[in-house]
Amino acid sequence: MTHSKPRTAPSTRYAASEKFLQRAERVIPLGSQTFSKSRTQFPLGVSPLFADRGEGAYLYDIDNNRYLDFICSLGAITLGHADPDMTAAVVKQLGLGVVFSLPSRLEAEVAERIVDRVPCAEMVRFGKNGSDATAGAIRLARAFTGRERVAVCGYHGWQDWYIGATSRHLGVPESTRALTHTIAYNDVAALDALFNEYPGEFSALIMEPMNFVDPRPGYLSEVKSCCHKHGALLIFDEVVTGFRYAPGTAQELLGVTPDLVTLGKGLANGFPLSAIAGRADVMKLMEEVFFSFTMGGETLSLASARACLDKQYEKDTLNAIERLGDRLKADVGERIRTHGLEGILSIVGHPSWTLIGFADRPGATAFELKTLYMQECFRRGILSFGVHFISYAMTEADIDFALAAYDEIFPILAAAVETGDCRRFLECEPLVPLFKVR
Ligand SMILES: Cc1ncc(COP(=O)(O)O)c(C=O)c1O
Repeated sequence: MTHSKPRTAPSTRYAASEKFLQRAERVIPLGSQTFSKSRTQFPLGVSPLFADRGEGAYLYDIDNNRYLDFICSLGAITLGHADPDMTAAVVKQLGLGVVFSLPSRLEAEVAERIVDRVPCAEMVRFGKNGSDATAGAIRLARAFTGRERVAVCGYHGWQDWYIGATSRHLGVPESTRALTHTIAYNDVAALDALFNEYPGEFSALIMEPMNFVDPRPGYLSEVKSCCHKHGALLIFDEVVTGFRYAPGTAQELLGVTPDLVTLGKGLANGFPLSAIAGRADVMKLMEEVFFSFTMGGETLSLASARACLDKQYEKDTLNAIERLGDRLKADVGERIRTHGLEGILSIVGHPSWTLIGFADRPGATAFELKTLYMQECFRRGILSFGVHFISYAMTEADIDFALAAYDEIFPILAAAVETGDCRRFLECEPLVPLFKVR
């Protein structure tokens, strides 16, 4: 092996990003609106820090480096950046007005499309971020059942009711934290035991029906029965999986219909729109539950959603995404084996949203290996922290490009493990976890 000290840090590749960070941090804490896009998750010295523009499958940083964008704006992009059909729809709406003093027809038109496609959806309300939808669904479940406790499984957003249950609970009242209980995925006995511990107190279980671990056969229908046996609602949080896994979302793919669903991210190909949908008898209570904001009916996002859902349907975009993702997953798996990284790297998840996992090794912790992977991806024009969100703008040639990069990167990771000195390969400080939910 000739992988001694790798190339020295690029001195100019991220110069504009690093300079701009100083300016941004004078006026914006962390210089970012989203933790996962901040310098806490993009190691300083080896990472792009600010985007200039997006074009299809690619993102350009402010140093004008180009990246195949596997982060896809944290899963919000399903069709690609600046998709021409979305742009045309939004520009047309822009000429008609952005937000009105009355609801617009667009609200019902997008709601009808969701009702047509998503099995549990009989009625719909819109929000802006995924967190609006999850917080609204929990308030609705509490109102419907007259109960206060909630069980959670996955990540559900920034608001008190959920984030209080994680290690990032600074500023959340103890009384709120005490009402949220985290359960393990694929373990119905634990859910049943939790419900039995607080009889008649749980309003709902909100869960990602799947993220990177497949549900074991029967698990989701057992969860549904368990919730209903205890008088709790089942809410699927499909903020990521919605309109990515299948036209009718993950509940269609996995064959279990929840009481409510929360949607976001890919609903409007990057425009800020989220939704709560579900059983009409539950949703009707939204006439009393306060879920109301000035921008709830903002039309650019709704016009984008209408165009996005229509394009998904007409072009069968999710099928194309799945085919590309299938190939990427299989070929990355093959490379993990051929580069001797089995047990160190793994690739998991639905083809439209896969993740490379990193395992701890002596002298090479999972976070050091992940940092090294990112350092080497970024310098080769791949934007990923291990994730591969696939968009419709990606092509076979893009997948070839990524695989060719991995053929260079995986031997470096193998060398870092083999020497037991991953730090020697790093040109930055290793990442530390934001918090762990998956
Ligand atoms: C499953 C899930 N639910 C909810 C959210 C919160 O969405 P947002 O960040 O748009 O508020 C996220 C965000 O990543 C998510 O992945």
